[in-house]
Amino acid sequence: MNRDRGVFEKHLHLFGQGKIFQTCPYFNRLRIVFDMEIVVLRYGHRKKRDDRASMHVALVARALGAQRIIYCGQKDSELEERVKKVTNEWGGNFTIEYFEDWTGFVKSFDGSFVHLTMYGNPVQNKLEEIKTQKKIIVLVGSQKVPGEAYELADYNISVTNQPHSEIAALAVFLDRLQDSKELELNFGGKKTIIPSSMGKKVKVCK
Ligand SMILES: C[S@@+](CC[C@H](N)C(=O)[O-])C[C@H]1O[C@@H](n2cnc3c(N)ncnc32)[C@H](O)[C@@H]1O
Repeated sequence: MNRDRGVFEKHLHLFGQGKIFQTCPYFNRLRIVFDMEIVVLRYGHRKKRDDRASMHVALVARALGAQRIIYCGQKDSELEERVKKVTNEWGGNFTIEYFEDWTGFVKSFDGSFVHLTMYGNPVQNKLEEIKTQKKIIVLVGSQKVPGEAYELADYNISVTNQPHSEIAALAVFLDRLQDSKELELNFGGKKTIIPSSMGKKVKVCK
């Protein structure tokens, strides 16, 4: 392992705390990738019906480098508890929060607003521009997304112009946005998986 890489891995868990660049001078060349606040906005959550899908949106957001998820629609304390439990066990500082007024949140956000929609511009054509942003909200729908989202969006972005899934669209978008560097994140959790080619190895810290 070369020196930069060692420092990179040692400090990666600080990313979620926003401290990575203050503590580690070796990160300058990665600044473009990681010095971005990513907030996922889950639009129109419906309790029960979107139970699993919204949880999966949150899991993907957390695992692939977003710092928080906010959601609107029906408030769902069970969803919030399940997301908090994952962060508590598996580490990082990922948070979930309910906002009834999602347009208010978007309008007061001092960053860019990306709306993932099959009708938008192909992600591959807009990525370099989006990568220059310091803060972004990424909206994914569940029930039909209102026209207001298309109008408010700085970027209406498609991940192919075919209908598929908000979970898949979010995963591809986050990975492309961060050039797969988020795959190296170390969450520093109570539970850590020791990758192995056979079976399940989990290190549990009390
Ligand atoms: C499963 S879709 C559509 C839901 C359906 N209209 C309904 O009424 O239940 C939900 C979300 O997935 C995302 N999505 C689906 N296909 C997409 C694509 N090709 N590109 C980007 N996002 C996509 C969008 O964010 C969309 O709002």
